[in-house]
Amino acid sequence: MPFSVENPERIPSRRYYDEEFYRLEGEHLWPHVWQMACRLEQIPNVGDWVEYSILGKSVIIVRGKAGVKAFHNACRHRGVPLAQEGGHGNCKTPGFICPFHGWRWNIEGENTFVYGKHMFSQAQLDQADLALRPCRVELWGGCAFINFDDNAPSFRDTIGPVADRIEAHGMSNLRSEWWYATVLPANWKVAMEAFMEGYHVMRTHPQLQQAAPMLYNMMYGMDTGGIGVPIDPNMSVRDNIKAQIKHLGLLSEGMAGMVHAKEVEIAKQLADVELPEDPAQAVMMWYGILNAQITAQLQAKGEKVPDLNGVAVSDPINAVEFLFPNYFLLPMFSSMSSYRIRPLGPESCLFELWSLTHVAEGQAHQTPMEPTVLPYDSDAFPPIPRQDYSNIPIQQKGMHAEGFDFMRLSKDIEGLISNYNRIIDGHLKGVAPDKLAAATNLLGGNFDGKILDLGF
Ligand code: FES
Repeated sequence: MPFSVENPERIPSRRYYDEEFYRLEGEHLWPHVWQMACRLEQIPNVGDWVEYSILGKSVIIVRGKAGVKAFHNACRHRGVPLAQEGGHGNCKTPGFICPFHGWRWNIEGENTFVYGKHMFSQAQLDQADLALRPCRVELWGGCAFINFDDNAPSFRDTIGPVADRIEAHGMSNLRSEWWYATVLPANWKVAMEAFMEGYHVMRTHPQLQQAAPMLYNMMYGMDTGGIGVPIDPNMSVRDNIKAQIKHLGLLSEGMAGMVHAKEVEIAKQLADVELPEDPAQAVMMWYGILNAQITAQLQAKGEKVPDLNGVAVSDPINAVEFLFPNYFLLPMFSSMSSYRIRPLGPESCLFELWSLTHVAEGQAHQTPMEPTVLPYDSDAFPPIPRQDYSNIPIQQKGMHAEGFDFMRLSKDIEGLISNYNRIIDGHLKGVAPDKLAAATNLLGGNFDGKILDLGF
């Protein structure tokens, strides 16, 4: 296998543009992994369907009478796709109709019409054989996940306990407020890895670093001599709280779902709440009060927000949680951002971004059915992803530089990048599916994490 990771702290650069490596991923990785295919709110009614495709393979996800099903998107006559790429609709009547010769299927995938039946041999018209081929689908977190591999371990066995922990934070009840997409001139892994550590914040998102230097210096700089704005030891409790509120405001403006504007409004109400004199204790206590207030105020409006202080203790999750290979979430209070990245070529990927929040029962809500597609440098993107997009294409170019043979990783906070790449290698090398699933379980909570022993 070319360009495998031999030293866990060094990731060969050719993995990010080599045609053969990309082809191997297409053969040994993508057909065997669970992929977020659609949000369930896109298919609320019987007969609603959406098409999902990756690397030329396409499936239709449809809400049948007894639940959500998925079918491979190919007519059983001569293979024409029944649904267009990115399509959606409702097919309760008259079902899926092939655009070529008009054969039909109902929402359960059963064939209901063959034009000119008498011209075919009986052997070609077996009803079971004419049914659309099912594709594996599992529901989690308000989404349908598909897998082309009938023998892969289940979604839950693959993702592991972090799936339940995220679910405890109310993931299934979230609704999409907006959905953007862009094409990035970068390998899909470069795009994913840009979100696997917070180490980039001080340089890429200076507005966040400056609003809460204590937070970022504690995590990435202070112990090693300080990076960025120094902490003012005389800063009062009030000023610390003001800094936190400003930081939350920037996160909200920059990345709506991560911190929702309604949560920032609640934070502002708590600017003068009574707190202990020690700033570190005060900030911790203030976040506890904020969690309690967000829970109480949004629940009072009819939103199904969980007890945020309760789940922080019972089901702790990280600032970013990755669902291998190409989906991740940024949860903070009651809302979340979610991202999905699909390969389009060795140096091109489709990058999608949702803002998810709770919507009160009975409150009008328009579900976006298609993404708003923008150029990656569009000013219409929120500031934080726009700042990330500015790095990703240039890093892709740098991968080609003469003498740049590998990325060198911090063993302590860039471990997720190494762990991810070594699980990809496990797929490409044919490691047993149960061992791959056990290793994938370890990615839960591994944001900003260490290089791990993956067991193969
Ligand atoms: Fe679909 Fe002929 S290819 S009906």
